[in-house]
Amino acid sequence: MATNRTFTMIKPDAVAAGHIGGILEQIIKSGFKLVAMKYTTLSPEKAGQFYEVHKERPFYGELCQFMSSGPIVAAILEKDNAIEDFRKLIGATDPAKAEVGTIRQKFAQSISANAVHGSDSDDNAKIEGDFFFSAFERF
Ligand code: TYD
Repeated sequence: MATNRTFTMIKPDAVAAGHIGGILEQIIKSGFKLVAMKYTTLSPEKAGQFYEVHKERPFYGELCQFMSSGPIVAAILEKDNAIEDFRKLIGATDPAKAEVGTIRQKFAQSISANAVHGSDSDDNAKIEGDFFFSAFERF
């Protein structure tokens, strides 16, 4: 059953480029409600744990290094059809292929420094939200 929640991170490239406000504004104007949010960092070990599903992929090392290179914003978002609608809002993994007006098309630099994360399933949204937030940190 769809949980109507998703998990997102504003990644180090977008935080460093000053895009926290612009990205959050687009997310909220698109109808997502904030359930939980924090400004934090990932150690290389924590990034490795978070992206464990990708550990056999060639970009895993670079990905973990990048995700621990600076602060991030982690958030749980709520909306009907959250997973699919948020993936649509952020656009393709590679910003060069992302539709015009999507967050990655507007704010991302490259396929690796691609501004935002969005969960790809209800199960992963739950796992990823639990990775960052305890029960009393969310609504
Ligand atoms: P993936 O789950 O394929 O993309 P998405 O974030 O759109 O669900 O990949 C996870 C992250 O790994 C992606 O956001 C950025 C990074 N990545 C690379 O650095 N290089 C690549 O070639 C790919 C496919 C992903």
